[in-house]
Amino acid sequence: MTVVKKKKLKLKKKNFLIFLSCILLILFSITYGVLTLTSPKTTKKEKVVKTAKEIKLGKLENIQKKLDYFNEDYIDRYLAYQKKNKGLSTKQIIMDVNIGIDRDYYTNTKKAINLNKTNILVNKYYYLEEDYIPENLEEIDKKYARNGMMLVKEAKEAFEDLAQAAKEEGNTIIAMSTYRSYNYQRALYNRYKEEDGVEGADTYSARAGFSEHQTGLAVDVYNGKEDYTNFEKTEEFTWMQEHAQNYGFILRFPEDKTKQTGYEYESWHYRYVGKKIATYIKKHHMCLEEYYVEQIENKK
Ligand code: DAL
Ligand code: ZN
Repeated sequence: MTVVKKKKLKLKKKNFLIFLSCILLILFSITYGVLTLTSPKTTKKEKVVKTAKEIKLGKLENIQKKLDYFNEDYIDRYLAYQKKNKGLSTKQIIMDVNIGIDRDYYTNTKKAINLNKTNILVNKYYYLEEDYIPENLEEIDKKYARNGMMLVKEAKEAFEDLAQAAKEEGNTIIAMSTYRSYNYQRALYNRYKEEDGVEGADTYSARAGFSEHQTGLAVDVYNGKEDYTNFEKTEEFTWMQEHAQNYGFILRFPEDKTKQTGYEYESWHYRYVGKKIATYIKKHHMCLEEYYVEQIENKK
């Protein structure tokens, strides 16, 4: 072979090797690109997000693991509420945020669920529509009520039993305000608003649609002598404290739950929820909002 031929062959080999390297490089780039595009996105960024979430969970002391109503979507709200309410237990923080009281009353309102059921919750976040009238309203026997007082049949019968049992022990329990229509409540609230302004009225009177008196399950009582605002000082109140739950009634706006219920203490306002729920609420020292978070909303 001549020297020229040998040189040409060497050059061809070199070119071939360069060509092969290029092909391999292209193939490698394509494979890498496809793999990167199709693989799940466990990127560095996500690792950081996960860690931040873990830190947040840590700030809630892990108690959430024991609470089945802990809601991961609310972590930021829990932390913000905790910051503003130092000293509250983590359980209370989770409960309060789930009730919604980290947000202003009458904001983020929703239609009430469980219409015509005795476990319905109506408050400053759950409302009834203007045309909602409960089924089976019946008038309470005048032995135990002012004229024209109506409750849903089941609550009415339970109330008559309660008032009769109280009577047999020398106590007088009279229903003085029961079912109220949407329009009635609106007029009532507007009157209070004129007297005390919105802020004042909101502490003791519900806006139209937000009163559980519209459910036909709530009853304001007095003892036939004292003004109802003094009910707490009467023997009848003590009797109610001991017995109301046995007839399915709860004290709806307790003194130590004003934040959760959104209302001042009302010793005269009772709510029919049925015996099972009433005894549970009494036993666990809850208000209806707390029961709702723990037992209803959580199990929807
Ligand atoms: N007083 C109660 C809160 C109502 O107006 O329904
Ligand atoms: Zn009332």
